Amino acid sequence: MSADAGDATPQTNVVLREMTPADIDAITAMDATLFGVDSWPRHMFVDELAQRETRRYIIVEVPDESGHLVMAGYAGLMCLPPIGDIQTIGVLPQYEGRGYARAMMVELIEDARRRGAQDVMLEVSSINPRAQELYRRFGFEHIHTRRKYYRDGSDGLIMRLRLTEPPATETPQKDPS
Ligand SMILES: CC(C)(COP(=O)(O)OP(=O)(O)OC[C@H]1O[C@@H](n2cnc3c(N)ncnc32)[C@H](O)[C@@H]1OP(=O)(O)O)[C@@H](O)C(=O)NCCC(=O)NCCS
Repeated sequence: MSADAGDATPQTNVVLREMTPADIDAITAMDATLFGVDSWPRHMFVDELAQRETRRYIIVEVPDESGHLVMAGYAGLMCLPPIGDIQTIGVLPQYEGRGYARAMMVELIEDARRRGAQDVMLEVSSINPRAQELYRRFGFEHIHTRRKYYRDGSDGLIMRLRLTEPPATETPQKDPS
């Protein structure tokens, strides 16, 4: 599977593949690097991958100097229609800014749509402007704040992307009298 990363640079060589149980050790280590005290214990990834009917976990791989594919990032979706949730997304620092997160978001949002989601939700720290900007560019809107949600004391911003227009509210009829 490959993904078009929009106008991100570089666009080539973005290879997305399904996460499998064989990846869990490497992904758990990457998660600890990226999220520190808020990282997931190994069993969370085991549990998530065991629920294929409602989950989708993908990995972005890039060729290293010798052409071998190495993992640069990963992302996961839970979809219980009508709601999809981006559960996690991360790209290693040395691969940031190349459109890899965007490519994974494109894939997961499309997957949520295929599975019948009407909204896609996610949560992001109030002190993570980089991720917030990524989500805003997809059309996610901040709809709610969970105060001091993260262990570092930062707030959790709940963001929502509407995949379908909400039904138009009926205009109340005026009393002709
Ligand atoms: C947030 C994160 C996933 C972005 O990954 P990435 O692969 O670097 O993102 P992309 O290259 O696809 O960039 C997508 C968008 O993110 C935003 N972005 C990327 N780099 C940015 C920067 N230095 N400053 C501000 N915004 C930036 C931009 O909106 C960018 O779109 P653009 O390329 O059109 O400018 C990555 O930085 C990361 O893993 N951070 C640590 C873990 C984390 O915070 N995960 C999110 C938890 S909610």
